[in-house]
Amino acid sequence: LAIAALSGLASASACGSGERPATADPAAFRTELRVPPLLEPKPDRDGTRHFALTMQRGRSELLPGRPVETWGFNGPHLGPTIRAARGDRVRMTVTNRLAEASTVHWHGMRLPAKMDGGPHQMIEPGGTWSPHWTIDQPAATSWYHPHPHGRTAMHVYRGLAGMFIVDDGDTPELPSTYGVDDVPLVLQDKELAEDGSPTGDVLSGTFGLLGDRMLVNGVHAPFMTVRAERVRFRILNGSNARRYHLVFGDGRRFHVVGNDAGLLPAPVEVEQVSLSPGERAEVVVAFAPGEQVFLRTVAGGDDIDEGDFDLLKLVAAQRLTSSPRLPARLAAPAPIVVPANAGVRRFRLNGHDAINGKEMDLSRIDEVVPAGATEIWEIENTVYAHNFHIHEVAFQVLDVDGDKPAAYASGHKDTVYVPPKSTVRLVVKFGGFTDPVTPYMYHCHILRHEDSGMMGQFVIVEPGTESRVSRTIATPH
Ligand code: C2O
Ligand code: CU
Ligand code: CU
Repeated sequence: LAIAALSGLASASACGSGERPATADPAAFRTELRVPPLLEPKPDRDGTRHFALTMQRGRSELLPGRPVETWGFNGPHLGPTIRAARGDRVRMTVTNRLAEASTVHWHGMRLPAKMDGGPHQMIEPGGTWSPHWTIDQPAATSWYHPHPHGRTAMHVYRGLAGMFIVDDGDTPELPSTYGVDDVPLVLQDKELAEDGSPTGDVLSGTFGLLGDRMLVNGVHAPFMTVRAERVRFRILNGSNARRYHLVFGDGRRFHVVGNDAGLLPAPVEVEQVSLSPGERAEVVVAFAPGEQVFLRTVAGGDDIDEGDFDLLKLVAAQRLTSSPRLPARLAAPAPIVVPANAGVRRFRLNGHDAINGKEMDLSRIDEVVPAGATEIWEIENTVYAHNFHIHEVAFQVLDVDGDKPAAYASGHKDTVYVPPKSTVRLVVKFGGFTDPVTPYMYHCHILRHEDSGMMGQFVIVEPGTESRVSRTIATPH
């Protein structure tokens, strides 16, 4: 409540959440939103697009005028946006200039396990890692972040995260001018000391850190000038634990056009979108000239979504450039059909440091999946809030305790919220890159849980070879 008062939303006619305190700081929301720069690739001789990332330390002002140490890619905080198209051959050069080993995982990318950047692809200080692959997946808003086992929460909290946009050119009517009407929003919460430095223990308590300072693209209390009638926001929950319920201060409705792993078949009109850590939503919002409205998150009555917070002030210019109408149909990937004899795997989440009673072990293969399979994964949560992310795949939510997911969340995804004491069933489509000795991960994306062992490993193998695969592999160190 104290922060809501500080961040000031006196004018909001709140969406069912009672009266708002008067603004204590009329000058709040006066720092312009930073839009992460697009990372310019260099073409290699053979046409491969080559992107260079350096993990480094730097100083940034999380609170204005109070520079503190943060970590970032190619800069002091967060990272540039990578944008590539389906069919592109890409090569990444990731250099680690931190004082400790880390990795970079391409969350949402469909690629061979050796290129995935999980805890088996460690980059030592001073070292470089150069994964390469051909982008072959539908248009989507993915992202990248470190994944060193036991250290992910801290590395992400310090600021290592960036967006990775995949274009597939099929829905040209959607706004797509980067930074103008196609704008990424990385949502993160922090606990900040008086001097502006991030504090708090990301590995303590049940969920790790839930901060009371909201940052968008690394900026606290930002404003953005809107210049087009419709803006597409690619929203990433890049927080360690917090779940957001996103609304506009005036309760306006907007359209969801995409989930984690692709567009929806048609825009879905909503007044609220919920995102747990690691999830993304693409939304399109309409604006009138000269108006102001806040993007905010409202409490949801769970442990990881406490508090109402204003996130971003949107200020529409007096003249807006006209935008095309929202298309009635979108270029969605084909629905994932459950095969008649679909295999079912069951995962039980209880406590916060194990799946099916087993703590993550880098040398143990938990699941062996035949290439190209479509399976049902059933996630049973016997305790408090968790979520579930699977590397490499796209899935759709079949049901949550027997109920279909909300229409806006029925598209292709790679991360899903698993409510307390409930069961989520997914239909999961696996890719075709086989490698019996290099695993992909599945885990809770509440980073404190992931780091303490709520993670497992699967390999994708030639169909028919499952029983011959070794369940023990070499570990990175
Ligand atoms: Cu976003 Cu396994 O990670
Ligand atoms: Cu991932
Ligand atoms: Cu969890």
